[in-house]
Amino acid sequence: MAEPDTLLDALVEQVQRAEKYRHLSEVLVRSVLTAEMEKRRGPKEAVKAARSKLHQVAAAYQGKPIPYAAWLKELAQLPQDLHHPDVLSYLMHALSAHASTRERIPIQAVFFQECLAPLGSVHSILDLACGLNPLVIPWLPLQPGFTYTACDIYTDMLDFLNAFFARFKIDGHAVPCDITRELPPVKADLTLVLKTIPCLEQIDKDAGRRLLEMISSPNILVSFPAHSLGGKSKGMVRNYERRFAELLAGKAWQVTRFEFPGELAFLIQR
Ligand SMILES: C[S@@+](CC[C@H](N)C(=O)[O-])C[C@H]1O[C@@H](n2cnc3c(N)ncnc32)[C@H](O)[C@@H]1O
Repeated sequence: MAEPDTLLDALVEQVQRAEKYRHLSEVLVRSVLTAEMEKRRGPKEAVKAARSKLHQVAAAYQGKPIPYAAWLKELAQLPQDLHHPDVLSYLMHALSAHASTRERIPIQAVFFQECLAPLGSVHSILDLACGLNPLVIPWLPLQPGFTYTACDIYTDMLDFLNAFFARFKIDGHAVPCDITRELPPVKADLTLVLKTIPCLEQIDKDAGRRLLEMISSPNILVSFPAHSLGGKSKGMVRNYERRFAELLAGKAWQVTRFEFPGELAFLIQR
C-alpha cells in the first residue's frame, strides 16, 4: 500500500489530469483533497468529492476553456492607451469569459463609480479571488501611479493578468494564493472581496469571518451575488444581507450598502 504522502501526491495528480483542473493551484487541490480524505471512505470517493468541491468554488465560473494563447496574440496588437475604444472592447470581450465579471458587465461602470465614490480616487488595490476582474481597471477611479495586486488560484489566469499589466505598464502583480489560509503580504488602500465569500464558505463555514479579519486595508468592498449561476434569485439578497450582518457582529466599522441588479455590495471603512 502507498505511503500517505505518496498517495496524496498521486491523488492530486489524478485530480489535475482533468483539463479544467490542470491550472488550479496545487496547494488548493491538496488541501481540498486532504479534507475530503478525512471525511470519505476511500481515495476514489475523496477524488470525486474533491473534484465536485473544486468545480463549485472555481471551475463553474469558466464555462469553457479560456483561449489565453489567442488573447495574448491580440493583446500584443492593441494600442498602448488603456482607454482606447479597441482596448475597451477587447477587455469587455475578455471579461465575458468568466461568469462573475460577465454578470457585472451591464452595471460595471456604475457599480464601481457608486461604490467607490466615498473614497474619491484610490492609490492601491488588493483584489482577492480576482477572477478576471483586474481587467476593469479602465473603469476604476484610480490615482496616477496606482498599484494593483490580484490573487486567485488559476495559474493560467494569473499569467494572463500579468501579461495585461505588462502590456499597459501597470504597476500590477497577479499571484497565486489560497485566501482561506493567507493573503498576499501587501498594504493597500482598498481590498476587493467581490462575490467570493459564499464561494469560500462552501469549503469552510468560517472562511468569510477569518478573511475579513486577515485584511489590513482601511477600506474593503465586499459583494454578494443577487442570483445563482443558474439565474435563480429567490431570497438571496435577504440571506446574504443576514450573513454579512453576522460577519460584522461586534465590529465598529462604518458600512455603506449598495444594491444593483445582480449584485449586493457593502463598502466597509474603518
Ligand atoms: C465568484 S468568483 C468571483 C471573481 C471576482 N472576484 C469577481 O467578482 O469577478 C470566485 C473566484 O474565487 C476564486 N477562488 C475560489 N476559491 C479560492 C481560494 N481558496 N483562494 C483564492 N481564490 C479562490 C475562483 O477561482 C473564482 O475566480
